[in-house]
Amino acid sequence: MPPATPPPQTYRVKSFGCQMNVYDGDRMAELLAEQGLSPAAEGADADLVVLNTCHIREKAAEKVYSDIGRLKRDDGSSPLIAVAGCVAQAEGEEIMARAPAVRMVVGPQAYHRLPEMLSQASAGKRVTNTDMPAETKFDALPKRRRSGASAFLTVQEGCDKFCTYCVVPYTRGAEISRPWQALIDEAERLVEAGAREITLLGQNVNAWSGKDAKGRAAGLDGLIRDLAKLPDLQRIRYMTSHPNDMTEGLIAAHGEVEKLMPFLHLPVQAGSDRVLKAMNRSHTAESYLRLMDKVRAVRPDIALSGDFIVGFPGETEAEFAETLALVDSLAYAQAFSFKYSPRPGTPAATMDGQIAAEVMDDRLQRLQDALNRDQLAFNEATVGKNCRVLVERRGKFAGQVLGKTPWLQSAIVEADVAIGTMLDVEITAGGPKSLTAVERIGVSA
Ligand code: 5AD
Ligand code: SF4
Repeated sequence: MPPATPPPQTYRVKSFGCQMNVYDGDRMAELLAEQGLSPAAEGADADLVVLNTCHIREKAAEKVYSDIGRLKRDDGSSPLIAVAGCVAQAEGEEIMARAPAVRMVVGPQAYHRLPEMLSQASAGKRVTNTDMPAETKFDALPKRRRSGASAFLTVQEGCDKFCTYCVVPYTRGAEISRPWQALIDEAERLVEAGAREITLLGQNVNAWSGKDAKGRAAGLDGLIRDLAKLPDLQRIRYMTSHPNDMTEGLIAAHGEVEKLMPFLHLPVQAGSDRVLKAMNRSHTAESYLRLMDKVRAVRPDIALSGDFIVGFPGETEAEFAETLALVDSLAYAQAFSFKYSPRPGTPAATMDGQIAAEVMDDRLQRLQDALNRDQLAFNEATVGKNCRVLVERRGKFAGQVLGKTPWLQSAIVEADVAIGTMLDVEITAGGPKSLTAVERIGVSA
C-alpha cells in the first residue's frame, strides 16, 4: 500500500478531448474547491492532479500514460494522481496495474464521489469507482458559482446509437436527459456568474427530451426557446448532434430564435452509403444533404461544422471519393476529421478490411486540404460584414481582445472593453483559422 499523505491543499484538473470533458473538469474543480482545496498557481506543483481523459481515439488514451510519467518530481515523488474520464471508465484496472503512481480512478458518471475517494487515497489506499449509478451525479454536485463569458452546460449524456466504431455508448453509458428545471436553474446560475453565451452539450444533444415547466413533452427546441427568455443570456449554441434527431421543431428554431446562433455541428462521418451502413449511422448521404437543405432554407447563413472518419474498415478509394464529393457540395465552415482508430470492444475493431496506415494518411490529407480550403473561403466571405463579437479573453497585446462571431469564428479585435461585452465590429480580414475585426464606434453594444 502506498504511504499515507497529508490531505492535499492544491489541485490541478487537466481535461482532454471533447467539450463535455471540459464541463466535467470544471465541475470536478468546483467540487474540490468546496472541499477547501485551492487551484495550484500557473506553473506551480499541485498536491492533487486530476487527469480527465478521453478514449475516443488511440492517441488520446496513450497520452494518459506519458502524462502520468511526466508528473513525477525530481526527487522521485509524485502528486496524488486521479485518472478520470473515459479512459478511466474503459481501462480502470489496467491503469491501476500499469501506473502505480495513480491513487484514484474515477469514471465519468462517478466523479461526484471524489471527496470520499480523496480521503481514502490520502489515507494510503488506491481507490477505483467506475460505477454508473442510477442516481445522477448532477444532483450531488455543488451549485455553479463561476463562469466565463461563454459557458458549457451538459444537458444530455451517453448514447444509445452504437455506431460501430465508437466507444461512447460503453464509456458514457446509456442516453440520459437531465430534467428541464435543473437545466433552467443551472443556466440562471451561469448567467448570474457572468455567462453571456451557453453551449448546451450532449453526445447526442439534439436527442434531449423532457417535460417543460407545465409538464408537457419537450425537445431541445423547447428548452432553447425557454432559455432564450433569460434577459442577460445573449447567445445559445448546442453540440454534438446526430442527423436523425434533427427535428422539424429544432430546424424551425434556427429560423425563429434570434439568440440561437447560426452554427450547426452535425457530424456525417462519411459520404458513402455502404460505409455509413457499416458504421450503423442509420442515415444516408442523400438524407443528410436534404436535411441541410431544410436548415439552410430557414437560416441561409448557417455555418456548418462536422466530423469525418477516413479509412473505416473496407472503405475503398471510390467510397472515399464520395466523402470528398459530399464535402464539395456542402462547403463546411469548419470540421474535424480523423483516421479511423480501432477501439477495443467495438464491432468495427474486428471487421475485415482494416485499412493500411499510409492509405489513411493520404486520405486524411486530401480531406483536410478540401476542408481547409472551404474554411478559408468561409472566413474570407465574412470580410466586410458587420456583426457582434462576444468578448471572451484579452489578446496577447494590450488593447486587443479575443472573441467569437455568431458563426463561431475566432476574431481578434483592437478594442479595450470588458470580458463579456457584445462588441459591434466590422470584419476586416479572414485567415485560415481566425478573423481580424475593428470596433464600430458609436454603435451601441
Ligand atoms: N476512430 C476515429 N474517429 C472516431 N470518432 C469516434 N470514434 C472514432 C474512432 N474509433 C470521431 C467521430 C466522432 C468524433 C467525436 O470522433 O468523428 O464524431
Ligand atoms: Fe458515438 Fe455514434 Fe453515439 Fe456519436 S452517435 S457518440 S459517434 S455512437
